[in-house]
Amino acid sequence: MFAERTNWNLAPNRLSEALAAHRAAGKPLLDLTVSNPTQCGFQYDGPAILESLSNPAALTYEPNPKGLESARRAVAGYYAARRDDVSVEDILLTTSTSEAYSYVFRTLCNPGDELLIPQPGYPLLDFLADIQDVRLVRNPLVYFEGDPKAANDHGWRIDFRSLEQAITPRTRGVVVVHPNNPAGNFAKAPEMAKLNDICSAREIAIIADEVFLDFSLEENPRASFATNAGALTFTMSGLSKICGLPQMKAAWLVVSGPPHWKREALARLEVIADTFLSINAPVQLAIPVLLEQRHAFQKQLMSRVRRNLTELDRQLAGQKVCTRLVVEGGWYAILRVPATRPDEDLAMDLLSKKGLYLHPGHFYDFPSDGNLIVSLISSEAIFSQAITELLESLT
Ligand SMILES: Cc1ncc(COP(=O)(O)O)c(C=O)c1O
Repeated sequence: MFAERTNWNLAPNRLSEALAAHRAAGKPLLDLTVSNPTQCGFQYDGPAILESLSNPAALTYEPNPKGLESARRAVAGYYAARRDDVSVEDILLTTSTSEAYSYVFRTLCNPGDELLIPQPGYPLLDFLADIQDVRLVRNPLVYFEGDPKAANDHGWRIDFRSLEQAITPRTRGVVVVHPNNPAGNFAKAPEMAKLNDICSAREIAIIADEVFLDFSLEENPRASFATNAGALTFTMSGLSKICGLPQMKAAWLVVSGPPHWKREALARLEVIADTFLSINAPVQLAIPVLLEQRHAFQKQLMSRVRRNLTELDRQLAGQKVCTRLVVEGGWYAILRVPATRPDEDLAMDLLSKKGLYLHPGHFYDFPSDGNLIVSLISSEAIFSQAITELLESLT
């Protein structure tokens, strides 16, 4: 009856079953997986947000495949504030970054074509690829444990040797999550240059997911791919993370690169977007106001991330069993723990014995055990208590 692409194993895994039972029993839970910013105690300007959604212009339907120009102008303004010159004509609005991924996959790939993705990485990509009949090929990030003070010698990097080896005649693009979820590494200028060389030489695209771009722990903002000209580039972001407003369902896609490829890509994407015309008028009209919310939101979020990281480091300093990996940006930290058993067994144990819920590394496709992922946007009180409980269990 059904298409093979939907033959997913839909049985809940052990950990989610245990979590559901834990919640059903009403037991207290220290949740270090939170990723929904609207449930983390951040302050939003409710009246401004709600007022922006009741613009009388929404009573008229003005279909535009790329999205309303006023909204695209606001997105161009977002890039201009970062000193990136992006034309409104190169922007398409979508309801989510996921939808933007699907438009790009559809534009680039025939069934069975391949895209390289970073490993570890964002779990939803598997489903997005399945739905579009795309094959994902994992490209490991490598972690260097050099001198912590020498930025170039320490942290996650793209493994270009394996990336080049993984490219086949069916490869249509390389996905870069900038910064990565959960590894937190940005693509550095030399990495961007190398990606351009590889992708332009093979006439394949760069697909850059920048939903966490603004959440950098470094002083200087990291360059966006939105103005990347060295290879055909699709850059995606949206209100979900940038403004902490995932419920608004508003995102965008920027196309850049050599002019002939860019023109062709935009024309094809426009047909896909015109077929769905998916983003609704009230939200498009609200985008200028909603985007402005990012300043207040990002300030609160970054202050929480910094405080939680400081607390994490303070507690880690008192023991030797657990360490944390370098975080350059994003909402997560990776903890290295002894790989004496599968990470999922450890996560199950922490849940049943301590009421502590963390994602095991395999959830983000870590190839080996010994990794736990913690959300840095959890409230400070919960975070601190959860780390204390975790370290007590490990030591
Ligand atoms: C790396 C990454 N990309 C995209 C998304 C989803 O964004 P959207 O809500 O715009 O689909 C997420 C959500 O967690 C994410 O972590």
